[in-house]
Amino acid sequence: MAPNYVNRVTASIVVLHAFLILTQISCSFVLTPPKNYSDVDLLEFPLNLEYLEAEFFLFGSLGHGLDVVAPELAEGGPPPIGAKVARLGDLVRDVILQFGVQEIGHLRAIKSTVRGFPRPLLDLSKSSFAKIMDSAFGHPLHPPFDPYANDINYLIASYVIPYVGLTGYVGANPLLRNATSKKLVAGLLGVEAGQDAVIRTLLYERRAWKVHPYGVTVAEFTNRISTLRNKLGNEGVKDEGLGFTSPFSGNILSADNNSLSYPRTPQEILRIIYGSGNESVPGGFYPKGADGRIARYYLHDT
Ligand SMILES: *[C@@H]1O[C@H](CO)[C@@H](O)[C@H](O)[C@H]1NC(C)=O
Ligand SMILES: *[C@@H]1O[C@H](CO)[C@@H](O)[C@H](O)[C@H]1NC(C)=O
Ligand SMILES: *[C@@H]1O[C@H](CO)[C@@H](O)[C@H](O)[C@H]1NC(C)=O
Repeated sequence: MAPNYVNRVTASIVVLHAFLILTQISCSFVLTPPKNYSDVDLLEFPLNLEYLEAEFFLFGSLGHGLDVVAPELAEGGPPPIGAKVARLGDLVRDVILQFGVQEIGHLRAIKSTVRGFPRPLLDLSKSSFAKIMDSAFGHPLHPPFDPYANDINYLIASYVIPYVGLTGYVGANPLLRNATSKKLVAGLLGVEAGQDAVIRTLLYERRAWKVHPYGVTVAEFTNRISTLRNKLGNEGVKDEGLGFTSPFSGNILSADNNSLSYPRTPQEILRIIYGSGNESVPGGFYPKGADGRIARYYLHDT
């Protein structure tokens, strides 16, 4: 019995050694994605979206952004490309200015919790939004979509952004470890969800309107944008326009069958905000890519 036992132990040790060697080889040669994001990584990542929202809403309502209103938050990052004041009525301008001020608070709250990074280069030009609409429709719109032209165009353009941040916060929440981080993300999520609800409500009221000069309804614009985001994110349905068919009429909020908000991972968010469907291929609103450890990991992956 003894030699047999010894042989078996020897065999086990050999197998164990082989396993350890193989593990070491795969650890040193295969670059694995950072699955275990730290709280700091997960709190810094959404700064990318908060910067975008702050600039889009401040410029849209005031005609200037962080460099005038809160330059310390921009930390010398390059000014956004093509952002400008929108032709808005009193109600929408009022709402959008409030959103802009909320985003300043969000930037301040995140950056007082984690170090963060300066404002990344943002492309908020008319053509950047026009490209998204062209992809959403699968053909170029004539004339190209102008987010800054009027209330309805600006609201449709706004539909593109806070919702993505909202799904990102829902996705980040279960990955967070400490109470400080969870408290911050819950606070951010609440207000992003509120912004999305306000935008959706204003659009819902006008869902049957035809957007000039395309002759396409507001509902169809939102459906197409949501479908595009689902396609770019590439992880199933996590996004629903106002005309999404459900057993009950109406779809004022986007949520799953239990009316819970959909979660998205940082990779899905990057695929959407880059417009490329690939977290390693920057573009869209972020010509040079997003910042922070998570986004940079995927950029350097190429
Ligand atoms: C919790 O996370 C925050 C943000 O990352 C950090 O500043 C703080 O030190 C952490 N607290 C504990 C107790 O780990
Ligand atoms: C929700 O339920 C409907 C009907 O049962 C089903 O077709 C759909 O796939 C479900 N959606 C999700 C996201 O689970
Ligand atoms: C994403 O882009 C990188 C760099 O171009 C490429 O290597 C990778 O295959 C792409 N991933 C997908 C899923 O297309």
